[in-house]
Amino acid sequence: MSASIRFLMCSPHHYDVDYVINPWMEGNIHKSSRDRALEQWQGLYQIIADHATVDLIKPQPGWPDLVFTANAGLVLGDTVVLSRFFHPERQGEEPHFKTWFEEQGFTVHELPKDLPFEGAGDALFDREGRYLWAGYGFRSELDSHPYLAEWLDVEVLSLRLMDERFYHLDTCFCPLTDGYLLYYPPAFDSYSNRLIELRVPPEKRIIVDEPDAVNFACNAVNINRIVIMNRASDSLKQQLAHVGFQVLETPLDEFLKAGGAAKCLTLRVTEPVLTEKVATVAYESRTIKLEGHLLDSGLINRALDVITDGGGSFQVLNFDLGVQRQSTSRAEVRVSAPSHSIMEEILSQLIDLGAIANPREDQDVATEVVVKDGVGPDDFYVTTIYPTEVRVNGDWIRLQGQRMDGAIVVGENAEGAIARCCLLRDLKEGDRVVVGVDGIRTVRKAEARDQRSSQEFSFMGAGVSSERRVELVVEQIAWELQKIRSQNGKVVVTAGPVVIHTGGGVHLSRLIREGYVQALLGGNAIAVHDIEQSLMGTSLGMDMQRGISVRGGHRHHLKAINIIRRAGSIAAAVEQGILTSGIFYDCVRHNVDFSLAGSIRDDGPLPDTQMDLIAAQADYARLITGADMILMLSTMLHSIGVGNMTPAGVKMVCVDINPAVVTKLSDRGSVESVGVVTDVGLFLSLLVQQLDKLNVPQAVR
Ligand code: ARG
Repeated sequence: MSASIRFLMCSPHHYDVDYVINPWMEGNIHKSSRDRALEQWQGLYQIIADHATVDLIKPQPGWPDLVFTANAGLVLGDTVVLSRFFHPERQGEEPHFKTWFEEQGFTVHELPKDLPFEGAGDALFDREGRYLWAGYGFRSELDSHPYLAEWLDVEVLSLRLMDERFYHLDTCFCPLTDGYLLYYPPAFDSYSNRLIELRVPPEKRIIVDEPDAVNFACNAVNINRIVIMNRASDSLKQQLAHVGFQVLETPLDEFLKAGGAAKCLTLRVTEPVLTEKVATVAYESRTIKLEGHLLDSGLINRALDVITDGGGSFQVLNFDLGVQRQSTSRAEVRVSAPSHSIMEEILSQLIDLGAIANPREDQDVATEVVVKDGVGPDDFYVTTIYPTEVRVNGDWIRLQGQRMDGAIVVGENAEGAIARCCLLRDLKEGDRVVVGVDGIRTVRKAEARDQRSSQEFSFMGAGVSSERRVELVVEQIAWELQKIRSQNGKVVVTAGPVVIHTGGGVHLSRLIREGYVQALLGGNAIAVHDIEQSLMGTSLGMDMQRGISVRGGHRHHLKAINIIRRAGSIAAAVEQGILTSGIFYDCVRHNVDFSLAGSIRDDGPLPDTQMDLIAAQADYARLITGADMILMLSTMLHSIGVGNMTPAGVKMVCVDINPAVVTKLSDRGSVESVGVVTDVGLFLSLLVQQLDKLNVPQAVR
């Protein structure tokens, strides 16, 4: 026994499950037996007392969870950070623990109010005392971590808990003597798992699987080479024995009903204090500013969700609420994150929402110079579809060529600084590329309540759209097409072969003939099936008149390809009188530009199909430029490609029978996209009908 190791425990005289504050307590109210609890607690007490000194704190009536002394606070040397409980149900324990610590002569630190931290339940020293692992996500707030670093003068490593069942760090994570670690990885997010793997070498990581984890195997008390726990599987015992640990099991199921076991029932009050220490924490915090219809548009919720879902935390410093329906609100929010890279991830998403990072400091963008063609600096800012401005030499300048997934290159011309979106592959040695998140803002259209509801009206992604609603959207789109045509605007269509299979080809042809379409984008397949239908009356071997497959029809599309290859191109086939109808015939006849981007699965391909994908992307980008509307007809990949190249502000209509595709494409977070879940052939036929109605001369109507 080592008298120099001390633990604090509290006998379960007043223990019970009186309320539910974790999933273990659900269904267990008043279901624990105090006698059995006492017996089990004594079993644990005996084992610990055999190996260390046990101090006791007096149980208190009305505070059933006081037995879980791990949650009293976090001790290092003669300093303690007192717990600040998350749930009101346990807050009354704080003064009892505080008195005990003070009586023992500890220096007691107390966190600001409303900043929860649940002591050694959520903070565990590596057994060599080199650093402190601190959990957050359920009971303790990330923002408590810098206080721990400062008051205890240690390096704090923040770990984010993701599984409600493992709501305290000590329920799934147990550092052991000699740098070993017993833990349950699925309880953590991927960043935390990476951090653990960086600090603990593989041979020192003892991974517990779910059956052991739910028996609270990680909730263990480690004294030198002994590990005391509720229960362990044979394989876990072997694994531990293999690296020199002896498992002592002692049943604690009465306490499992409250969500605790061996470790929770103890607080180690002697922790090794290293002389050479560094108070560090990878934690960072920054202030951002948000402005707009923050409540009405749900922007503030989205922003706060971005922060917490991303693994960060926040404090709302100011909220200036607009009073009138039309007035905007502003908020200043302090964002914190467990590391620099998480901070940058969160901030760039907030910038997408229109937030400005560092509102006070007014910083210029940071740039790094490209050292190898086609390769950006590590930390380059990735662009979105939203109009973006960067601050250069004190001025905000608008990006040219806004698109998604590019880098920002900053340069000079005669008039001053310029900034443009640039694809990675187009970066040139010497280009100055924006890195980090300073001095970047996106300009979002204020979304007021009215606009939002109209967007919700148009969006058909949620479930199956009723026929009437499809009709309403079609009416809106027809009206819009009509308007764009009368203003000599530009409509681009991306179309998949389903347009042909569903009989929509004739309708699309009409839209082309009547001047509603200015460019057509697709792959090899739409052209092949359109031409097959024109030459042979089938689409992928299906008779389009009768809807049945034709014997030997599966060869038709190859024959169609072959015919066009012989002619030299689609246009040549039209010239030579070989191709006399169909979508592509009409494109050629009416000078509508088209671009066919190839793929690995293409048969043939047609001579017009661009098999060099970089050239195909450039061609798409050229045809999209200046578009007022893009109609996406049942082609997921071409539509996603087009979506990425298109800045916000271009109206997009996505039609697909698969709601998932529609959701994916319409969810650009901008008001201009409309999704319609329906058969594309049907959609096109409704659309031409509606256009006919609009075009009936006044007198006849
Ligand atoms: N019922 C207690 C609670 O939910 C159990 C505490 C367990 N303690 C621990 N260190 N994990 O707060």
